[in-house]
Amino acid sequence: MDNLIDIKGVSHAYQTAAGPLPVLDGLNMAVPEGEFCAVVGPSGCGKSTLTRLVAGLMKPDTGEVWLHGELVKSPRKTVGMAFQNPVLLEWRTILQNVILPLEIVAPSMPKAQKEARAHELLDLVGLNGFANKRPSELSGGMRQRASLCRSIVHKPDVLIMDEPFGALDAFTREDLWQTMRDLRAQEPFTAVLITHDLRESVFLGDQVIVMSGRPAHAQYTLKVDLPADRTIESLYTPEATEMLHILREQIQIAQGRAPEVH
Ligand SMILES: Nc1ncnc2c1ncn2[C@@H]1O[C@H](COP(=O)(O)OP(=O)(O)OP(=O)(O)O)[C@@H](O)[C@H]1O
Ligand SMILES: [Mg+2]
Repeated sequence: MDNLIDIKGVSHAYQTAAGPLPVLDGLNMAVPEGEFCAVVGPSGCGKSTLTRLVAGLMKPDTGEVWLHGELVKSPRKTVGMAFQNPVLLEWRTILQNVILPLEIVAPSMPKAQKEARAHELLDLVGLNGFANKRPSELSGGMRQRASLCRSIVHKPDVLIMDEPFGALDAFTREDLWQTMRDLRAQEPFTAVLITHDLRESVFLGDQVIVMSGRPAHAQYTLKVDLPADRTIESLYTPEATEMLHILREQIQIAQGRAPEVH
């Protein structure tokens, strides 16, 4: 299988008033086409920086980021992004918000076709009755569902999510994990998901990469050997529990702490 994302020896430092701040140091990472890659790591280790590099919003000091066999040198239209706080435009309806990327990427597509595509996705995430509402009329979880639709409406090569479920309560979050699983089954895409939630990384990930402390490299890669149609219950199996233990240990190492014995 080809790697859709290939990150090769990437190092980067921010220039700050106090001097250079090395954030990434020799980061290597590969995501095959169609795979879901979850990334976890200590706070401030450079996870959001990594998303900006993959999206082409920033260039690394050294090393290379490849997307679909092309060296990333500038912002990419074929990348979809979702963040913790969905930035939906209040003066547009939910439907019009979801359509937005199509207006940019496919301006000549007939309006009816754009709307049909948006309706198809809103249906998949259970929001069809809300297409004509304004963002402020929806709950946080519903807004995040709409934002997910918007981030994949133009069928991006890769979907990059930076803690998209971080602001939601635990139950809504689990609902969204299931929505994400179902979306993927209908609309296969390659994804990078930054998260602080180890259960989320195991539920959604085909692989989980643990980043080290700053300046970060990929410290540990876990292949998630659970069925694709996993359920929340799958997280309570001995296999999942063992994976969660390993990840927790790796996070403690990344934080510079001795792992607790289990
Ligand atoms: N534009 C910038 N200029 C200077 N320093 C920055 C800039 N962006 C981020 N940093 C610093 O770089 C480090 C890594 O930031 P980054 O946001 O990538 O970390 P993160 O892993 O996403 O953190 P968190 O888990 O808190 O979201 C932090 O110390 C941050 O303060
Ligand atoms: Mg971040």
